[in-house]
Order: sequence, then C-alpha cells, then structure tokens
Amino acid sequence: MKVLMTYDMYREGFIELFDRYDVTHPEGRDFSFEEVMKIIPMYDVLCPMFNFPVNRELIDQAPKLRLIANYAVGYNNIDVEYALEKGIAVANTPDPVIAPTANLALGLMIDTARRITECDRKLRIQRGSMKTGILENMGVSIAGQTLGILGMGRIGKALCKRARACGMEIIYHNRRQLDREEETKLNVAYVSFDDLLKEADFLSINAPYSPQTYHIIDEKALKSMKSSAILINTARGALVDEYALLNALKNKDIKGAALDVFEFNDFPVPELFELENVVLTPHIGTQTEKARLEMAKTVSDNVIGFIENDRKVFFVANR
Ligand code: GLV
Repeated sequence: MKVLMTYDMYREGFIELFDRYDVTHPEGRDFSFEEVMKIIPMYDVLCPMFNFPVNRELIDQAPKLRLIANYAVGYNNIDVEYALEKGIAVANTPDPVIAPTANLALGLMIDTARRITECDRKLRIQRGSMKTGILENMGVSIAGQTLGILGMGRIGKALCKRARACGMEIIYHNRRQLDREEETKLNVAYVSFDDLLKEADFLSINAPYSPQTYHIIDEKALKSMKSSAILINTARGALVDEYALLNALKNKDIKGAALDVFEFNDFPVPELFELENVVLTPHIGTQTEKARLEMAKTVSDNVIGFIENDRKVFFVANR
C-alpha cells in the first residue's frame, strides 16, 4: 500500500501508519499541488491537510486512489461527490476537533464581549496614557444573554454545554431539527434562520461550509441582527460575506465580531485590522498539541481501518 501525505507534522501520531505501509511525505514543509499532481498516479491513499485542494483535476490523475483521509473535520477542500463517483472513499477526524473548537468559540465570545484583546492592545500601545477609569472599557455580560448557534452538530452541541454553564440561553438553527429528547437534554430551542438572526445576542457559526452555506451571513442577514449582537466564526470563512461584515462593523449594524477563519486565502481583508470591535485569530481552532496529535492518530487509524478492516473509520463518504 502506498500512502501519500501532503504535509510533515505530528509524526508521533503516524507511527503505526509509517510502520505498516510505504508512506511518502515532504520533509519539514508541505507538498505543493503541482508536486502532488506529478506523483499521485502511484498512490492508493492520499492524506491531505484541510487547506489542500483535492479537486477533479487531481482525482483524474489518481487511477489507483481508494481513500482520501483528510486531516480535519471539515472536508470542503475535497470534491467528495466526484471522489465517490470514482469509487474513492473519504474520511475525516471529527472527535479530536470538538472540544478545542468549542473552547475557542467560547473564548472568542468572552474576549469580544469583555474586550480583552482590545484592552490588551490599547494598554500595550498607549502604555501609561491609557484610560483605566471605570467607564472607558465597559463590556457586555454573557450571563442571561441569548446565544444563537448556527449549525448544531458535534461542535455546536459542545459549545451549547459550555455556554449553558456560563448562564446563557441557547437557540439554534440547523438543517435538521434535533429530536425533542436531545433538545430537552441540551435545553435548547429550535428557531428559523430569520429568528436566529433577530434574537441572538451572540451568534456562533458552527456549520460546515458547502455551496449551500456560502455567504449564509450576508448583508441582509447582518442587517437583521441586533445592533448589540456579536458574531463568532470558527467554522469556515466563506460562510460570511467578509466585505459585508466589514461594513456592518464600521456602520455599527452589529456590535462586534470574532473570526478564526477568513474568506480569502485564510487572511482577513486588511480593513478589518483597523477596527477595534473585532478579534482576529489565524485559524487556531484545533491548534493545541493534544488535538493535533489526536487528529494525526485519527488519520492514521482511518487509513489502517480502511485497509485492514480492524478498527473504526470516520467515513464522510464510502460506497
Ligand atoms: C479545522 O478547521 C477542521 O476542519 O478540522
């Protein structure tokens, strides 16, 4: 079995994979798309990183390919439908991603509400001259506020539990309504997309990216949110029309935003840097040693389980 990895990291998580199969990976860098295009015809399994495009062009170059084992829970980098058509299975890493991403969403929510990063920035820049009086740095409480969760999958549910512990009320919108039992257990109320926008004090996006969710938060959506609302995006950048968000923040149509993901090339539109009411982080949702190692182990298990049929494989699609 020949396995091709497009990246070189968390080797400790891949020990079993390296022991069992003939694995090719770059040394201390990522393979480029062009490099992968050249060698992919020889490989049975491809392990890409979440930002590596596995498109038709690449799949057409890969006659032996049987499995794409993505290093991520999100798989919008892969043309899953085309892979399936070609008889190629796709797997991902859902479990290790849940807690760190939900923790980051909660962290960003509190950061934006209490202006932690903003105050830190001002203190550093202004040094002794920053006003530290009792009214200059007022934030908003999160207890008693309504959190709207867009996308109630594993991460949405994990965020829900954490926000509940902070005293928040939770409403959600999802493609599919949860069953009553689960709603009762989580203590959440299902609402329409429009009501989610109108009622949320904080709106957290935890939905996968797909052509259907492209720009789901657009100018119209932002205009129907409360002017006191704060938007959190730890999912994928293109769920939000970033220029519309920029305008909404400038015009104070909403109060603030925290973004871990961006619409264009994983980098914020530069005008966002000028705004105080936005917190920006460079896609760190799963950037903890533990999560990244567990993701590596899950990729490794997905490949071995697919070939040996001896353990669970987290399939996104399989014929
Ligand atoms: C990270 O963004 C992931 O999809 O796992």
